[in-house]
Amino acid sequence: MSPTFVSIAYLVAAVLFILGIKNLTKPRTAVKGNQLSSIAMLIAVVVTLLDQQILGYSWIIVGMLIGGFIGAYLARTVQMTSMPEMVAALNGFGGGASLFVALANVFDPSMADNSVAQLSIGITVLIGSVTLSGSFVAFGKLKELLSGNPIKVPGNTILNGALVVAGLLLILANTMSPGGGWIFLLVVVAIALGLVLVLPIGGADMPVVIALLNSYSGIAAATAGFISGNTVLIISGSLVGASGLILTQIMCKAMNRSLPNVLFGVMAEGGEKIDADEVYAGKVKSSSPEEVAMMLETAERVVIVPGYGLAMAQAQHAVRELANVMEARGTDVKYAIHPVAGRMPGHMNVLLAEAEVPYEQLIEMDEINPQFEQTDVAIVIGANDVTNPMAREDKGSPIYGMPILNVDKARNVIIVKRSLSPGFAGLPNPLFAKDNALMLFGDGKKAIVELTASLKEAD
Ligand code: TAP
Repeated sequence: MSPTFVSIAYLVAAVLFILGIKNLTKPRTAVKGNQLSSIAMLIAVVVTLLDQQILGYSWIIVGMLIGGFIGAYLARTVQMTSMPEMVAALNGFGGGASLFVALANVFDPSMADNSVAQLSIGITVLIGSVTLSGSFVAFGKLKELLSGNPIKVPGNTILNGALVVAGLLLILANTMSPGGGWIFLLVVVAIALGLVLVLPIGGADMPVVIALLNSYSGIAAATAGFISGNTVLIISGSLVGASGLILTQIMCKAMNRSLPNVLFGVMAEGGEKIDADEVYAGKVKSSSPEEVAMMLETAERVVIVPGYGLAMAQAQHAVRELANVMEARGTDVKYAIHPVAGRMPGHMNVLLAEAEVPYEQLIEMDEINPQFEQTDVAIVIGANDVTNPMAREDKGSPIYGMPILNVDKARNVIIVKRSLSPGFAGLPNPLFAKDNALMLFGDGKKAIVELTASLKEAD
């Protein structure tokens, strides 16, 4: 294959990766983004296999058929709620693939005299192994094969530090004297590092860890690209590494936590204990579907605020039906999307897309917050922490400073949940006790179906 053709094919793949990532930033174009990125990956893999004469056309077609079948099967069968563990496993495979590429090059005579390649091998082995073992611990925690509670490793911080230093020394030793068995020692050290990094982190923080490991898998791919000078691997790995880091940062910011606090701390550390009875006693008012339906009959602007409970109740289709009925009556309906509502990035977008809610009705936090004051009714369905005014007002609260949806500024707030139980952060929510708030207790789906039926009866 001519080098010019290979370079052009790699360039096309790189451009498609960049366009793919760009399209993935908006729900409306996300499917197209996914398709562009997969076409880019197919071009890159096929051209590399043919260029290096690794495989002929017939084996490539067999591989495409097997891979395509596995991909289609997983896409159809994996539940939306199992997506984080699937991403964890895929990150692990990505890190493992880079690790094996690096190991395959350790004894290659064309690499042995090149210190850039040897340094790249060492770095790839370190990051690839950490990604591999860390991702499978994350997978085990999310799949409940391992306890979701933080598993404390004695002397964790010292052990982490010692393993990082040992890893760096082994990379140096391998670069100075390649093929001396250093690299296999490095695999053991890095696998252990991945384990001790992720085991002490609680299951609920796993989505942040997965975004970080996703970034690591990209960095490992990029450094693997430096081993053989493969430009498309360097570009695609860098894109994954950078976007994973950006996502990690967005999630930490939206949870008002620093990355070191997620990695080495515990949720709600340092906050004072807040008594739920004191917050709620005698102030919480409950309502019925009929009463809420009467309120909706006269409402001109309604904002629906989904949270984790919407996913648990699988109430997305019921919510869409309620919105249809309200819109048919001339009510303006929007959905307020908090960046960490639910338990994984984009959780609410995905659920609402499943119910075919038009994308233009999904409004991000910064844009919807100024609109709550003109909202007649905010309906909060299974959301709790992301609406907790303590984050805005109570300096002593562990979530103080976390950006929230200002639903309490709406004229009326209806909160649909089963009880007064707290959400992920384990804190009472003063929203439930506000004068303009009414609780509609019940399972999210059942309550919304009953509310819709009551509203239809009013027609
Ligand atoms: P949460 O604060 O966790 O509250 C969810 C509420 O849903 C609970 O209070 C629960 O109350 C209710 N619920 C559960 N099952 C229900 C059902 N079948 N029907 C109706 N309600 C039900 O949720 P949120 O407001 O979406 O906040 C997300 C939290 O997760 C934040 O603290 C965030 O930092 C954290 N987190 C998010 C992510 C990402 S990436 N999204 C990752 C890690 C952590 P009842 O039991 O009373 O019904």
